[in-house]
Amino acid sequence: MYIQQNISLKPYNTFGIDVPAEYFLELNEIEAIAEITDMPQAKHVLGGGSNILLMRPVNGLVIHNKLKGIAVEKEDKEHVWLRVQAGEIWHDLVLYAINKGWGGIENLALIPGTVGASPMQNIGAYGVEARETIDAVTFWYWKEKSLLTYNNRECHFGYRDSIFKHQLKDRAFITSVVYKLKKKPEYNISYGAVEQELQQMGVTELSVKAIAYAVINIRTGKLPDPKVIGNAGSFFKNPTISKTQFEQLHAKCPAIPSYKVSDTLVKIPAGWLIEQCGWRGYRTGDTGVHIKQALVLVNYGNASGGEIWKLSGEIVSSVKERFGIELEREVQVWTPTP
Ligand code: EPU
Repeated sequence: MYIQQNISLKPYNTFGIDVPAEYFLELNEIEAIAEITDMPQAKHVLGGGSNILLMRPVNGLVIHNKLKGIAVEKEDKEHVWLRVQAGEIWHDLVLYAINKGWGGIENLALIPGTVGASPMQNIGAYGVEARETIDAVTFWYWKEKSLLTYNNRECHFGYRDSIFKHQLKDRAFITSVVYKLKKKPEYNISYGAVEQELQQMGVTELSVKAIAYAVINIRTGKLPDPKVIGNAGSFFKNPTISKTQFEQLHAKCPAIPSYKVSDTLVKIPAGWLIEQCGWRGYRTGDTGVHIKQALVLVNYGNASGGEIWKLSGEIVSSVKERFGIELEREVQVWTPTP
């Protein structure tokens, strides 16, 4: 086991925030976890680093999850159950599945990050969420020093949410995920942009590959590539408000977009609210709001976590003041004890 000291985390988070980790370890074999558990340092697990905001130097041990492997666990006529190690790159899994023609995660193409993050925040895009295909999640439970497996129901999935962000926060280290994929895919092109893109591509016969490539085209046109401009995807969640509040807002701004959640609840795109407050394309120093998607905060080079946090606070206040809606951050903020 090779533990490095005082390592910059800049290459390990897609926001590109430059803070050091006191200790740093690449975990390649699951067997090493038991040994790590007995180390006295506080432990922080890092996957693709694509949904975190680093606020200050990280004391303790940062474990970079590099557990790799994709294996068919079982299959029947209609489904295949794939066990995927948590350190696999998410998009590599999507490419693997579409090349086999297996359906369920094609709409989630090009989401940055690792497989381990997919249950953590129930990643989602273009009308599909990871929870629809996650059959089970295996994790190392630090306290008990053992591997546990939760089924889909036990993960308490919600919109960009799961038990791993709450009761099991900092207590569980996700090691592998089982996805149940369909051999005869059911396509979801309910999201208007996907249908339009497929038409533009001239696709006449739907396939998981065609959908994945439509999604790749949409994402590359709209969302900044973290390799070029630091970012962590959507910084905020899309807020859910009551139908009554929506009706009042709609009377004042008839253009407000919305999605029905239930008979009493409505979801509003946070990107629209932020844009209306004039933030789209805003820049101060090396921190800013992406020009094509106001939901994405960016680091143009040397922004600190604190500067991005400060900007996000100003956005929250202005949206609250103008629309009476409290935006909730979607990224995980790392504020380990100084
Ligand atoms: N909009 C604006 N201005 C903006 C951005 C959006 O007016 O700057 C409005 C438009 O009306 C647009 C609507 O918001 O039609 C929805 O925008 P978009 O389709 O880009 O999706 P989103 O709601 O902003 C969500 C997810 C994304 C996911 C897309 C596509 C969240 C927090 N974000 O964004 O997920 O890719 O839908 O399904 O739910 C992520 O989680 O990191 C992420 C990128």
